[in-house]
Amino acid sequence: MTTYLITGANRGIGLSLVKEALKDSNNTVVATVRDKSKTSELSTISNKNLHIIELDTSQTLEEIKASFSVLDSIVPNGVDTVVQNAGIAEGEDLQLKVFSKHVEKIFHVNFLGSVKVYEALEPYWLSKDNGVQKKFFFISSIFGSITYPLPLRPVGYGGSKAAINYFVSSVALFGSKSTNELFKNSVVSAIHPGLVTTDMGGPVTRMPEFQGIPSLTPEESAALLVSTFSKSDQSVNGKFIGPEGELLPI
Ligand SMILES: NC(=O)c1ccc[n+]([C@@H]2O[C@H](COP(=O)([O-])OP(=O)(O)OC[C@H]3O[C@@H](n4cnc5c(N)ncnc54)[C@H](OP(=O)(O)O)[C@@H]3O)[C@@H](O)[C@H]2O)c1
Repeated sequence: MTTYLITGANRGIGLSLVKEALKDSNNTVVATVRDKSKTSELSTISNKNLHIIELDTSQTLEEIKASFSVLDSIVPNGVDTVVQNAGIAEGEDLQLKVFSKHVEKIFHVNFLGSVKVYEALEPYWLSKDNGVQKKFFFISSIFGSITYPLPLRPVGYGGSKAAINYFVSSVALFGSKSTNELFKNSVVSAIHPGLVTTDMGGPVTRMPEFQGIPSLTPEESAALLVSTFSKSDQSVNGKFIGPEGELLPI
């Protein structure tokens, strides 16, 4: 029995994660979307264990805290597993040029947004001991690896994911020294979901540089990820892992 909070659940991997987590009727899922009035498939899911709330990770910390203030009433026992999935990869010239405005926007949403989501969720994630190990997964990307051989290096996107990988190792170190037993025993990891045929990943699979690299459907990726979330233990705390929990190079 796990209470999940999954950000960026309107489409793509986030939407599939929600559907996968709900396959276990003991789970509760809080799914976040930017605009409830614009959700399509998610709003058609009829399940008493699903709660949809609004969250935009580009907003201020105070606004993000306000988005989460409803959690006390909808999940009074707090959240067990957080999946910070919301992210963007838009606007970058992958081949030729670096534009600071793209780097700034992507870092703002992907990296600062992830840090703010973590900070705003702490009271709901680490407050209630219901006997379930507390876990926080940040959806990263192999593009965030500095040492993995990659055919392209998008500075804004890859840099924002590298920063998330670093943040994860920092939070795990803080946790290891914490006097809060929930935090001390928690699992905080960055996870690459695979190359996934979503609005974001689909165009990448069609690039000449990525021919021959296997891809996953959002459903396949979500099935691997949810299984990895549930079986992950402190051996992957602070680490960067792949969809099946395998260690990846930072
Ligand atoms: N697809 C891949 O191959 C791949 C590979 C490695 C890592 N990833 C990572 O996996 C995660 C999900 O990617 P995806 O492929 O599912 O992408 P996607 O299909 O483009 O979906 C992105 C999701 O994030 C939401 N989002 C975007 N900006 C947001 C913001 N400011 N605040 C809150 N939500 C926001 C979107 O909401 P709207 O519908 O409102 O825009 C959407 O639900 C991302 O972090 C991505 O970097 C993907």
